[in-house]
Amino acid sequence: LAGDEVLIVSNREPYIHNWRGDRIEVQVPASGLVTALEPVMRACSGTWIAHGSGSADRDAVDVRDHVRVPPDQPSYDIRRVWMSPEEEMGYYYGFANEGIWPLCHLAHVRPVFRSSDWKAYVEVNARFAQAVQEEAKTDNPVVLVQDYHFALLPKMIRERLPHATIITFWHIPWPNAELFGICPWREDLLDGLLGSSILGFHTRVHGNNFLDSVDRYLEARIDRDSSTISYGSKLTAVNPYPISIEWPSRWVAGQPPVEACRRQIRERHDIEPERLIGLGVDRLDYTKGILERFMAVERLLELQPEWIGRFSFIQVAAPSRSIIDQYQQFAAQVRTLADAINRRFGREGYQPIYLNIEHHEPPHTFGYYRGADFCIVSSLHDGMNLVAKEFIAARDDEQGVLILSQFTGAARELPEALVVNPYNIDQCAAALHLALTMPPAEQRTRMRSMRGLIQEFNVYRWAGRMLIDAARIRQRQRVMR
Ligand code: G6P
Repeated sequence: LAGDEVLIVSNREPYIHNWRGDRIEVQVPASGLVTALEPVMRACSGTWIAHGSGSADRDAVDVRDHVRVPPDQPSYDIRRVWMSPEEEMGYYYGFANEGIWPLCHLAHVRPVFRSSDWKAYVEVNARFAQAVQEEAKTDNPVVLVQDYHFALLPKMIRERLPHATIITFWHIPWPNAELFGICPWREDLLDGLLGSSILGFHTRVHGNNFLDSVDRYLEARIDRDSSTISYGSKLTAVNPYPISIEWPSRWVAGQPPVEACRRQIRERHDIEPERLIGLGVDRLDYTKGILERFMAVERLLELQPEWIGRFSFIQVAAPSRSIIDQYQQFAAQVRTLADAINRRFGREGYQPIYLNIEHHEPPHTFGYYRGADFCIVSSLHDGMNLVAKEFIAARDDEQGVLILSQFTGAARELPEALVVNPYNIDQCAAALHLALTMPPAEQRTRMRSMRGLIQEFNVYRWAGRMLIDAARIRQRQRVMR
C-alpha cells in the first residue's frame, strides 16, 4: 500500500478542542477506537475525518475544519464534519446509541428505534460520504470506516468512489440473526455495510452472526469457506481482526516506578500504604458490568470480613452519553450502590468503594493501572475491551492480576486472566479473593504470558493484517482493470 492514500472515518475525533475560560484545552476521549487507531494514524499519516464535537472545534480559527495533530508532534490531519444539535440527537444519541448499541450488546437493555432518528442517521452518513469524497485526492483511496455510527457509509462511498478500497471495522459485537432482526431498518444496515471490500469484526463469532443475518434478510450469495458475500456485483470479505494497543505503550514510558504509583494512588484517596487496591476503569456505560463488580465487592466483604479495612476498590468512570435516559439512570444506580456498600461496610478511616466519576486522560489511568493490585473488567458484553490490554501493558513489573469477563473479545486471547461470568456474583467474589491472595510468582507467570501475547499481537499487527488484505484486493483489481 506504500504511496496509497489512507482516510479514516470515525464519529469520535482523536483530539477534542474545548474552551476552558479563554484558553483552548485539548482532550483525548475515552474510547477504545481512538486508543487503537491513533497510534496507527501517527505511523501512516493521512486524514482522519470525524465529528467536530468540542466547544472550540468550530470557532477557534486555527483548529476549525482541518487541524494537524497530535499537538506535540503533528503528523496527520483531522478533517471535522459538522452537524446541528438536532442531527446529533437523532444520529448519535438516538439511532447509534439508543438503537444499534443496545441492539448489538446483550445487556438486556431494550433498543429504541425512532424513524426521526433513522432519518438523521441517513443524513449524517451522507454528509460523511461527501467529506470522504472532498478529502480524497485520488480516485482509489483506502478508506477505513469505523464502527456502528456508519453502517450506511460504505455503500455511499462506493457510489461516489467506485474504485476505493473500503475497509469497515465494527468495533462492537454483532448479535445473532434473530436478535438483529428486530431492527426496522435491518436490510438497509446490511446493504450499507456490504458496500465494503472488507468487513472486520473482533471475533469469528461476530463475523458468523453477520453472515447469518445477511443470509436471513438479503438475497446474497454467501461462501462460508472463504467467508465472502456476493451481493449484486459486489464482493465483501468478512474477517476477524482482534484489535489491540500500541506496544510498547507511550503511556508507560513516562510513568514513575510502580512503587511510586502505588504510593500516589493511596495518598490521593487517603488510604494507608499497606491496604490492597482493586481497580475498575470504564466509560460509565451499562454494558460494562459496574454494578455487578460492586456487588462482588460487597459479597466478598460479607463472606470474608477479614478484608474489611484491608482492601478497597477504586472505580474510575468517565461520564458518557449522559443525555440518554438509560445512562442517567445507570449513573444513579452506580452511585446509589456504591453509597449503600460504603454505609454497610465503611468504618472510621475505611471506605470500601471510591467512585471517581471524571474524565481520565491516559497518563492518569496508567498511573492507576500501575498502582493497583488487580484490575477487573466485568463487561456484560464487549467487542474486545482495551482496558484489559492497557492494564497488562502498564505492568512492566509483571505483577498485578487481571479479572476478565468471559463475554469480552479479550477473554478469547487472555486465558491467563481470571476469567469470570459477571452475572455470577459469588464466582466474581471468589475471583476477587483469589486475586488479593495470589502469590507474586503466579502473578508473574500469568502476567508474563499475557504481556508476550499483546506485545506480539499489538495494534500495528491488527491494522497491518487489514491493510495486507486490502493490498491483495487492490492487486487483483489492478490486474483486472
Ligand atoms: C465504544 C465505541 C466507539 C466509541 C467509544 C466511546 O468503544 O465502539 O465507537 O467511540 O465507545 O463512546 P463515545 O460515544 O463517547 O464515542
